[in-house]
Amino acid sequence: MKLNEVQQAAQEQFARQSQRYGRSHILADISDVSAALEKITLPEKARVLDVATGGGHTGLHLASLGHRVTLADLAQPMLDRAQELAAERGLVVETRQHAAELLPYPDQTFDLVTCRVAPHHFSSPEEFITETARVLRPGGYFLLIDGSIPNDEPEAEEWLHQVEKLRDPSHHRFLTPREWTRLCEKHQLAVDSAELHPMKQPDLEWYFETAATSAGNRIAVRELISNAPESARRAFTLGEEEGKTVWWWPRLTLIARRP
Ligand SMILES: C[S@@+](CC[C@H](N)C(=O)[O-])C[C@H]1O[C@@H](n2cnc3c(N)ncnc32)[C@H](O)[C@@H]1O
Repeated sequence: MKLNEVQQAAQEQFARQSQRYGRSHILADISDVSAALEKITLPEKARVLDVATGGGHTGLHLASLGHRVTLADLAQPMLDRAQELAAERGLVVETRQHAAELLPYPDQTFDLVTCRVAPHHFSSPEEFITETARVLRPGGYFLLIDGSIPNDEPEAEEWLHQVEKLRDPSHHRFLTPREWTRLCEKHQLAVDSAELHPMKQPDLEWYFETAATSAGNRIAVRELISNAPESARRAFTLGEEEGKTVWWWPRLTLIARRP
């Protein structure tokens, strides 16, 4: 698998961090996935591809509903963790190691493609969307859940980009709901809904620990937070609670369909 620089950085970062993505990880709470699935009608035993599966929380939930699930990721240690979790839960899934930007499946293979809290690492969201549309069957669904920023807030977006890049250098870019919608519509996916849901980041230390942020970068993030522009304070409801820095990150849930 030949990887570009962005893919390589993500692969290395997540191979190092894979032990943190088990049962107790914050992403094990899949209430956002369940809420979205209420709006999606799937055949029994649907064929599902969970792209950038990480610890596998999204794909394993779909497997627990009786669907035939493929978990895919760039980092093999992540796929190993996901298989361990599957075994603990008595679930059978297939795992495949590959990039989101080039999906090694024939056209029209899947009833559902999911991708949660990962596309902001992708080197090319457009290639990912093109490939997703290609591997979906007509009538198939695409469910994207990822960190995002409100439309028309360039200053807040740039601020969050700097913060996130310092925390986790494998971060690439957050896209707005409008940008994701345009990409989908350009590549034959009709968007049913694209909604931002604020998610509370409980504590700055927790935020650093999840990415093993270096000491120097932690200091730089604290400085950016102290000097955050008004637009960022407003967009992310940045504040303090009991001496801890808390903020609310907009998380996008987008549901699209291949006509
Ligand atoms: C935060 S985890 C994903 C969480 C998971 N989707 C869930 O619902 O629990 C991000 C994952 O994206 C993967 N990743 C990052 N860039 C990728 C790319 N270009 N192609 C495939 N996987 C990628 C990483 O290896 C990592 O496992």
